[in-house]
Amino acid sequence: MKQKIQEKFKALFGEEGVLYASAGRINLIGEHTDYNGGYVFPGAIDCGIMAAIKLNGTSKVKAFSLDYNELCEFGLEEKDVPEKAWARYIFGVCRETIKRGGKVEGFNTVFAGDVPLGAGLSSSAALESCFAFALNDIFGNGIDKFELAKIGQSTEHNYCGVKCGIMDQFASVFGKEGALIRLNCKTLEYKYFPFHPKGYKLVLIDSCVKHELASSAYNKRRASCENAAAAIRKNHPEVEFLSDAKRLWLDEVREEIPQEDFLRAEYVIGEVQRVLDVCDALERDDYETVGEMMYQTHFGLSRLYEVSCEELDFLNKLARKMEVTGSRVMGGGFGGCTINLVKEELYDGFIAAAKEQFTAKFGHAPKIYDVVISDGARKL
Ligand code: GLA
Repeated sequence: MKQKIQEKFKALFGEEGVLYASAGRINLIGEHTDYNGGYVFPGAIDCGIMAAIKLNGTSKVKAFSLDYNELCEFGLEEKDVPEKAWARYIFGVCRETIKRGGKVEGFNTVFAGDVPLGAGLSSSAALESCFAFALNDIFGNGIDKFELAKIGQSTEHNYCGVKCGIMDQFASVFGKEGALIRLNCKTLEYKYFPFHPKGYKLVLIDSCVKHELASSAYNKRRASCENAAAAIRKNHPEVEFLSDAKRLWLDEVREEIPQEDFLRAEYVIGEVQRVLDVCDALERDDYETVGEMMYQTHFGLSRLYEVSCEELDFLNKLARKMEVTGSRVMGGGFGGCTINLVKEELYDGFIAAAKEQFTAKFGHAPKIYDVVISDGARKL
């Protein structure tokens, strides 16, 4: 990838650029908890985005996407927002850096990625954090790492229409080889947990389906949670985020909020606790508990939060049947992958069965990705 990027950079701009990279992410547990001020437990993975960058002495950005084979040129003022969706991520990062008092001037860039698109592995966060990190380095802006993650998150909010939480960009910026990171999304305290489950493998099964309207359905889930939190806050003013609420407090407002909001909130309150339980279990090497929590999360995401789909429920059920230790839909949902914690001796049989039975039922094969926990944003 390095070579391809530099070759294209040379062909377009007559020299080589400086290389930066960032990563996609997995999340072991803690889904849809980030924007509720709860815990998440992600790690960066060994696929991501790589970009060559060099200042061009103008006030314009010339960006070339190798994957789309498209060039896009845009200015750095608010009115200059580009039409191409992929370019809006880079534009957004430039704008959010400038809004924070950082310097950004015109540059040339060629970039490419190997995060499977639409799989729920945060290719967009990888793109955002690659550029947030690179611009901060190139212009010596001295923006701290959390703010770099927030630059990516604000890019999603303000230029891409997704009211996401901080998890993906956090993982992409803070990721470290061999470690998962538990983040408290309210206080932003975090802790690295070495993750080398002996005798187990972590594997993703990509359903290769992506449902339409995923971002509006995502924003709707967020609104439900905020609505439930607001109702609870009337009785318990200390509730800033839904994750601050006790289950009992949710029951108190059951009649006051739509049934749908109640179910969403019920899931979130349970999920916040599950992250803590999983971290405790990991410290005891108790993978059975980790796996059981993953199944509980899947149940919640499917029945209460309603972000699963037929394909993912099928993969989850199959995992249970084949005695896979843990399995659940991962990421925002509405398609994408399941993440599976599998005993090594069961791995081959499970993967073969998943491929065969999924293909027989849905008419296309799923994709399989072994998870390797890797470093996040960096200069190469
Ligand atoms: C998407 C969002 C994240 C998070 C997850 C669900 O990946 O970008 O902020 O909310 O969904 O856990």
